[in-house]
Amino acid sequence: MRGLEGKNIVLGVCGGIAAYKVADLASKLTQGGATVYVLMTRAAQEFITPLTFRSLTGQPVTTDMFDAQSPLAVQHVALAGVADAVVVAPATANTLARLATGMADEPVSLTVLATTAPVLLAPAMDGGMWEDPTTKGNLARLRERGFTVVGPAHGRLASGKEGWGRMEEPVAILDTLRYVLGRDGDLASKKIVVTAGGTQEPLDPVRHLTNPSSGKMGFAVAEAARDRGAQAVLVYAPTHLTPPVGVKAVPVRTAQEMQEAVDLSLSGAHALVMAAAVADFRPVKPETQKVKKEYTQGILLELERTPDILKAAQGDFIRVGFAAESQELLKNATDKLRAKSLHLIAANDITATDSGFATDANRCTLLDREGVVEELPLLPKLEVAHRILDRVVGYLTRPGI
Ligand code: CTP
Repeated sequence: MRGLEGKNIVLGVCGGIAAYKVADLASKLTQGGATVYVLMTRAAQEFITPLTFRSLTGQPVTTDMFDAQSPLAVQHVALAGVADAVVVAPATANTLARLATGMADEPVSLTVLATTAPVLLAPAMDGGMWEDPTTKGNLARLRERGFTVVGPAHGRLASGKEGWGRMEEPVAILDTLRYVLGRDGDLASKKIVVTAGGTQEPLDPVRHLTNPSSGKMGFAVAEAARDRGAQAVLVYAPTHLTPPVGVKAVPVRTAQEMQEAVDLSLSGAHALVMAAAVADFRPVKPETQKVKKEYTQGILLELERTPDILKAAQGDFIRVGFAAESQELLKNATDKLRAKSLHLIAANDITATDSGFATDANRCTLLDREGVVEELPLLPKLEVAHRILDRVVGYLTRPGI
C-alpha cells in the first residue's frame, strides 16, 4: 500500500484489554508493506504474548531494554532513530502519565521520549480514568508536544459500562497513521477538491432520480490525496461510505447543492477532481407531497438540465474529469476533455463487469490535454486514484500550466 510501503513503524503495546486488537493492527501494517517493530510493556504481556506479534510481523519483539536479542540492546535509542512513526496502542492512562512526564524506564516510553518521528496515541481505559482531569491534563501536554491522538471511541467498556474509553478500531488507527505519515508528501500544502457519488434529484419527498454510483472512486481520490499530504475536501452525494479520516467532508444531495459546495470549496484550490456521477436532468417541479398511485395511471415526467459543474468550474487550478461511456470510449472522452476544458480525463467503459460503478477495481484510460493516452490495467481504485494524482502533481510542478 502506497504510504506504508517501506516504512518503519514502531508499535508500542501497553497493558489493556484492547491489546488483542493491536495484533490486527500489526498484521494490517505488515500486509501494507511496513516493517513493524513491536515494543511491549510488562503489563501488555499479561494480555497478549510477544510470540503473537513476532509471528504477525516477522520481526523480533522487545519486552525488555536489557534483552541481548533486542535492537535496543545495541543502542538503547535504536528504534527511535529508525522509526518513520511511533504508534502507542492501547495507550493506557498509566502510559499517558508516564509519557507526559518523560519517563524512560521501559522500551515504549524510552522510544517515545527519544524519537523525533511523529507519535500517534490510541488511548484506551476505563471511562472514569478517561474523564479524570489528570488524564486530560496529561493528554493536553502530549498534544502540545505535537503528538496525534486517535480516539477513544464511545461504547461498551471492560467494566461492562457504556462510556468513552474504548480504543479506536485498528482501521481507524491505520487511517490516522497514513494521514500522519503523508504530511510531507508531494501534495503537502496543496488543496484538492474531490467530488463523489451519484446525486439525487427529488421527484417527491420519498422518491428521487439517481444512478448506481457507489462513490468509491471519489472517496479513493480523497484518501490518496490525504495520504500525499493534501488538504483534501470531499464533496459527496449520498453513499454508504464513511469519509476518510483527515479529509474535510461536505455531504450534499442534488447537483445544485454539489455545485454550490464545489464553488465554495474551490477558493484557494490547486485541483478539482470530479468523480461524482452528477445527474444530468432533474424534475422541473418536484411534488411537495408524496405522489399517490390511485390518482393516476401513469406520469409524464418533465425534466430539465442540471448545471454542468465541471464545465462551469473554470479557474487557475487543475481540472480532472471522469467519462463514463458505454460506446466510443476514447472519442467521447476526448470530446468531453475539450468541451469542459480539462487537463485530464479518466475514461471508463461502464459495460465492463469487472470495473467501474460499485466495484473495488477500475480499468481507466487517462487522456490529457496534450494528447497523451495512458491505458491503465485493472487496478484497485486507490491505486487508480494515485495514478491520477501522479498526473496532477506533474501539472502542479510544471511551470506555466
Ligand atoms: N459532470 C459535471 N456536471 C454534470 C455532469 C457531469 O460536473 N452535470 C462531470 C462528471 O463529474 C464527470 C464529467 O463531467 O467528471 C463527465 O461526466 P459524464 O456523466 O461522463 O458526462 P456528461 O458531461 O454528463 O455527458 P453525457 O452524460 O452526455 O455522456
